[in-house]
Amino acid sequence: LIWPLPALFAWSLGWALFAIARLLDAPLIVAIGVGAAAVAALGVVGGRFGATFGSTPWRRVFIALGFPLSLAASGLASGMPAWGWLLPLGLLALVYPISAWRDAPLFPTPSGALRGIAKLAPLKAKARVLDAGCGLGNGLRELHDEYPDADLHGLEWSWPLRIACALMCRYATVRRADIWGADWSGFDMVYVFQRPESMPRAAEKAMSEMRPGAWLASLEFDVKGLAPTQVLECADGRRAWLYRIAQQAR
Ligand SMILES: C[S@@+](CC[C@H](N)C(=O)[O-])C[C@H]1O[C@@H](n2cnc3c(N)ncnc32)[C@H](O)[C@@H]1O
Repeated sequence: LIWPLPALFAWSLGWALFAIARLLDAPLIVAIGVGAAAVAALGVVGGRFGATFGSTPWRRVFIALGFPLSLAASGLASGMPAWGWLLPLGLLALVYPISAWRDAPLFPTPSGALRGIAKLAPLKAKARVLDAGCGLGNGLRELHDEYPDADLHGLEWSWPLRIACALMCRYATVRRADIWGADWSGFDMVYVFQRPESMPRAAEKAMSEMRPGAWLASLEFDVKGLAPTQVLECADGRRAWLYRIAQQAR
């Protein structure tokens, strides 16, 4: 869908659900919650389908905010208590806990981005692979395509994302945990798609915990000052930086 059609579609859905809930005599706050939750879900889950919905984080923010803002402007929500407007913020904080923003908010690995990684970073059969900060599981899906017999794991700080990811990636073990507090020593590969600022910490953790021969793979963001063992040129022009632990100074 060409932008802003996804936003118009999402807002119309929010309004339609709001109107239906009100026709069914639902309390105002419930009607708003239903509309806002549907729009937010479209913005978040829609990211899983690439460019169809909210192809950038800012577009997803526009999608999520459009319905409550237009409702406030319409005056139809004037009966709602002031605290009710905190509801969307509460939902947002649940999906995107502030601590997760420090590393990276949800931004999924694009479809096909990791194609070819298994050739550059081959793993033994049943290798243990972790997506650290797995979001909705897009990275796990790409890893599953490349390493079909791998023992896949995902860690995610946001409860709703962790639940959605576990439902969508049945082939992986998904837990709610802080990637920095988790033990990486048992993994043959740790995949991250975080932020440039998180990379020194990820490299330090990988090198102090992971065994020689294991891999740290990072989509888009490299570790400054550390030569990658391999570089994957992704189909969309990004790069994935592959660091083999044995080759780095430990
Ligand atoms: C850019 S997204 C990448 C999602 C997924 N790895 C993918 O590639 O599709 C980063 C994810 O890491 C999660 N995250 C950020 N910091 C985290 C932390 N300290 N512990 C666990 N998850 C974290 C965020 O909630 C978000 O879902």
